Amino acid sequence: MSKYKIFVTRKIHDSGLKMLKDQGYLVKVSPYDRVLSKKELIKNVAGVDAILSLLTDKIDDDILKAAGPNLKIVANYAVGFDNLDIEAAKKRAVVLTNTPDGSTESVADFAVILMLALDRQITEADKFVRAGKYNGWAPFLFAGECLDKKTLGIVGIGRIGSAVAVRAVGFGLKIVYCNMVRDEEFEKKYNAKFLSLADLLKVSDFVSLHVPLMPSTRHMIGSKEFKLMKKNAFLINTARGAVIDEKALVVALKKKQIAGAALDVYEFEPKLVSGLNKFHNVILTPHIASSTIETRKIMSEIAAKNIIAVLSGEVPPNLLK
Ligand code: DGY
Repeated sequence: MSKYKIFVTRKIHDSGLKMLKDQGYLVKVSPYDRVLSKKELIKNVAGVDAILSLLTDKIDDDILKAAGPNLKIVANYAVGFDNLDIEAAKKRAVVLTNTPDGSTESVADFAVILMLALDRQITEADKFVRAGKYNGWAPFLFAGECLDKKTLGIVGIGRIGSAVAVRAVGFGLKIVYCNMVRDEEFEKKYNAKFLSLADLLKVSDFVSLHVPLMPSTRHMIGSKEFKLMKKNAFLINTARGAVIDEKALVVALKKKQIAGAALDVYEFEPKLVSGLNKFHNVILTPHIASSTIETRKIMSEIAAKNIIAVLSGEVPPNLLK
C-alpha cells in the first residue's frame, strides 16, 4: 500500500509533525517561512491525502480540486476556520477540522492583557518613558480606572469567552454576556447577566469579542453599535477582524464615541484600515493572542490527531460540520 502523503503549508511545532511521521506518512512541510501563494499551494497539494493548513491559507474549491481525489482531510491549524470553504469541502467529501482546545487559555489571557493595557494606558506610558518625558511622579499621570465594579460585556461565551469570564471574576468585574443561546449555568457560575447585543453595548465598560467569523457575525460591530456604546467604553477584539466594521471603528474613534480599542486581528489582515494606527487610545498587536509555545505545541498535536483519525477511517475529534 502506498504511503499517505501530507502537505503542511508552513513550519509548525515539531510535536505534531513527529506524530504524523511516526505513522509512516510522507510529510512534506513548505520550506518557506511565509504564506504560500495560491499557485504554490496548488502545486504542492497535488495528489496529497491530507493538507495541514494555517489560517492564512485560503482553502477554496480550486485548492481542493488541485489536490485531487485522494484528499480526505484539511486539518486547519487554528480554532477559526473562516479560511476554509465548507461548501466546497462538502461537495468533494473532504473532512474539515480545527484546533479548538489548544488556544483557549492563551487567547483569554491575551484578551485580559489588552483590557488592562487599555485601561491603564500601558503602551502610551511605555512610549512616554522611553521618549525621556518622565520628569517625576505626578498624581494624575496616566490615571486609569479601577476595574472593580466595572462591567465587562463578553460577546460569545464559547470556550474562550468563558475563560475570559474566569479571569474577569478575579478582577471584581461585573459580567454581562450575549450569546446565541442563554446559558443559566454560566450565569450562576459568574453571576453574569444575559443581554441582547444592543443592551450589552449600552452598559459595558469593556466589550470583548469571542465569536467566530461567519456571515451572521461579519460587521457585528459597526456604526449603529458604536452609537450604543458608552463614551468611556473600550472594545477588545481577539476573534476575527471582520467581526468589526473597521472603517466604522475609525469614525467612532474620531467622533470619540468610545474611549479606545485593542485589536489583535484585522478586517483586511495583515493590512490596517486607513487611520487606525493614528490613535493613541488604540492598541494594535499582530494576531498573537494564541501565541504561546504551549498552545502552538497543542495545536500541532490536535491537527495531527485529526489527520491520523481520518486516515485511519475514524471520525476526527474536531470535525467541522
Ligand atoms: C486561531 O486559532 O484561530 C487563532 O486566531 C490563531 O491561532
